[in-house]
Amino acid sequence: MPTGENPLLRAPLSRRRFLALGGGLAATATLGAACSAQAPAAPPRVGPHSPAVTTAAQARQVPGAPTVNVALEAAPAEINLGAGTQVSTWAFNGQFPGKEIRAKQGDVLRVDLSNKLPQETTVHWHGLAIRNDMDGVPALTQDPVKAGANFRYEFTLPTSGTFWFHPHVGMQLDRGLYAPLIIEDPAEPGKYDHEVVVVLDDWIDGTGTTPDAVLANLRQQGMTMGGGMSGMGMSGKGPLGGDSGDVNYPYYLANGKIARDPQVVDAKPGQRIRLRLINAGGDTAFRVGMPTSDMTITHTDGFPIVPQQAQAVIMGMAERVDAIITVPDTTTPLLVIPEGKNGIAQLVIRVNQGAPPDVRTLVPAFLQRPVLNTATTRATERVFLPTKKVDVTHDLVLKGPTNGSAGKYTWTINGKTYDPAAEGLPVRQGQRARLRFVNQSTMFHPMHLHGHTFQVRGPNGVGPRKDTVLVLPMPTVEVDFDADNPGQWLTHCHNLYHMDGGMMTVTSYVE
Ligand code: C2O
Ligand code: CU
Repeated sequence: MPTGENPLLRAPLSRRRFLALGGGLAATATLGAACSAQAPAAPPRVGPHSPAVTTAAQARQVPGAPTVNVALEAAPAEINLGAGTQVSTWAFNGQFPGKEIRAKQGDVLRVDLSNKLPQETTVHWHGLAIRNDMDGVPALTQDPVKAGANFRYEFTLPTSGTFWFHPHVGMQLDRGLYAPLIIEDPAEPGKYDHEVVVVLDDWIDGTGTTPDAVLANLRQQGMTMGGGMSGMGMSGKGPLGGDSGDVNYPYYLANGKIARDPQVVDAKPGQRIRLRLINAGGDTAFRVGMPTSDMTITHTDGFPIVPQQAQAVIMGMAERVDAIITVPDTTTPLLVIPEGKNGIAQLVIRVNQGAPPDVRTLVPAFLQRPVLNTATTRATERVFLPTKKVDVTHDLVLKGPTNGSAGKYTWTINGKTYDPAAEGLPVRQGQRARLRFVNQSTMFHPMHLHGHTFQVRGPNGVGPRKDTVLVLPMPTVEVDFDADNPGQWLTHCHNLYHMDGGMMTVTSYVE
């Protein structure tokens, strides 16, 4: 498939130059700092039920704020992906994608989860700085919710923006268990006519296999760098330098529909549509855009950026992008292309009942358009982290399965697979912390920090605010955050297969 240039490898020059110049010396210095910070006797951790967690949660409460009540049932379901394609999967309330939750900043969200799955589950509220005991990470922040059991999640919604939620157990997210969480800012002017939430996904469940079987297969066969794998292996010759993903999916979806039977949105020429794009994929980055017109990118991971024109945008797993588009004069698709994989998804914007063009004819030209990685944008000043000296720096060296490790599908951070009891990355409340993602694998990793929104360091120190950042093969990406939300916060790659292969650690508040 002719996919043009690979945007994951092609960071804009300014950024690449910055990293090349700043990389070497800084790495030596901060590695030293990270080592000396790891004292032999680790200080006690601030657990999810610590008084500090309650104090931080109370500070977020808005007096008199309404409570939004939601009943959420996770259960097996039969789902129609369009054009008669039926699959058995797991879903929330029998719907796929799950019905969005919509509320306002400051509201209390109360979700009563009922687990009708044949195994334990949890719900994680991706991107939100909420109280640690509501973060939904088994062992680390709560006991998993057993099959047949219930759990109440209740917390203040801290910030407006495009968020989403999903289980944090095994491969459940790669089934149908996810939904948008849209938090409105009452003060934000809505300079658009329509709003369309678009969830992107790679789909394999119920097509003769399950995500768990795919993972078991990866584990059994192992994986060697650049090595060809038979069957469900990595796409050896993908345009991401060979590593666009470990799993080939039979379907790619926009709002739960395959390209042959897409969702259709009616609109009038010249109208402005606010897209809220969410990549819910397990192992796939998507390239998104219109065939010929531009988009104005306004937010990434819920936080506003200096508006930026783009012909196409690349989204790693779990990233969100808000964009304004102007409806063209004729029916046109929003193209959703799985990066380095074979397939396509679309959402049709219909004008005057017009028939959509054959989407396949539009793809080659679309793939030649320049692609924006939102990690290179700039936050609006309103959401800048205040200027402050960095108190603690942690390096996270990311590595994948290496030659000779066949039979071992392990992905590591600083040479280790996940252990919730290990020391992780200690921080103290009140510190300015810096994470340096040092990618020593040949694959991209969408790296995610729970409970905080960091600021990506750009050429001038001011990138976007994000909770999930694309870390390309080989370069290093630095992010800063204020340690203002005490607790134990999972820090991981949002490739589900990498997560389960061990690529997780804990940003751990200590006394
Ligand atoms: Cu979508 Cu651990 O997160
Ligand atoms: Cu990864």
